[in-house]
Amino acid sequence: MKKIIGSVVVLGLIAAGCASTYVSEEQREAQALAMMKTSFKENGQAKLDRLDQDDMQKMCSRYHGDTKMPKEVGEKLEKDQQAQIKYPADGTYLGDWKSGERIAQSGVGKQFSDNPANPNGANCYACHQLTKAELAYGTIGPSLYNFAKLRGYTPEMQKYAYGKVYNSQAFSACSSMPRFGHSGILTEAQIKDVVALLMDPQSPVNK
Ligand code: HEC
Repeated sequence: MKKIIGSVVVLGLIAAGCASTYVSEEQREAQALAMMKTSFKENGQAKLDRLDQDDMQKMCSRYHGDTKMPKEVGEKLEKDQQAQIKYPADGTYLGDWKSGERIAQSGVGKQFSDNPANPNGANCYACHQLTKAELAYGTIGPSLYNFAKLRGYTPEMQKYAYGKVYNSQAFSACSSMPRFGHSGILTEAQIKDVVALLMDPQSPVNK
C-alpha cells in the first residue's frame, strides 16, 4: 500500500512537473523578450522598442538552424516587404556616386552616442567589396565590384538596386543586410546616391 501511494505521488509529481514546465513557442518568445527588456537599458536614441520584432523578424527567429523556413512562407514574406517599398516619386533612382561612396564608407549613426540630427552612414564596406581602391571590406555579402558592368546599366537594374538597398529582405527573406529605407536608416536622397555608386558608369565600382 505504501509503495502504491509512493508511486501515485511520484506520478503526480511528474505530471505536475510536465504541466508547469510546458511552455508554448509564443510563451517562450514572450519570456525571452521580457528578459531582454529587463537586461537592456535605454540610452539616447537607442530605445527598447528596438527589441520589438516585426512579422518578418519574428518568422526569421522562428525558422533558423535546422528548422528551415518553408519556401512559400519566405516568398510570402518577400512579397509583403516588396509591397512596402517606397520608390522615388520622381521615378529616378540615381544620385551622386561620390556622395554614395562617402555613405558606403561611413559606419556612423543609430548608436546611442550618435547625434540623431546628423545623417547616418550605411557601412556597405563592412559586408561588401565595392571598389578596387578600398582594401578593407567585409565578405558577409557578395562582392559588388563591377556590379552594373556585369548586370547591366538598365532602368530595371537601377530599380532593383534601389529596392534592394531600401529593403533587402523584399528580395531575400531573412537576409542579414540592413533594410536601409524601410528602417529609416537612409533617406531617399542617400539611397539614390548609394545606387549611383553601384550603377553610374563613372563610379569606381564599374571601373
Ligand atoms: C551587415 C552586412 C551588410 C551590409 C552592411 C550591407 N549588405 Fe548588401 N548584402 C549583404 C548580404 C549578406 C547580401 C546577400 C544576401 C542578400 O541578397 O540579401 C547582400 C546583398 C546585396 C545586394 C544584392 C546583390 C545581388 O547580386 O543582387 C546589393 C545590391 C547590396 N547588397 C548592396 C548593398 C549596399 C549598397 C549596402 C550599403 C548601403 C549594403 N549592401 C550593405 C549584407 C550586407
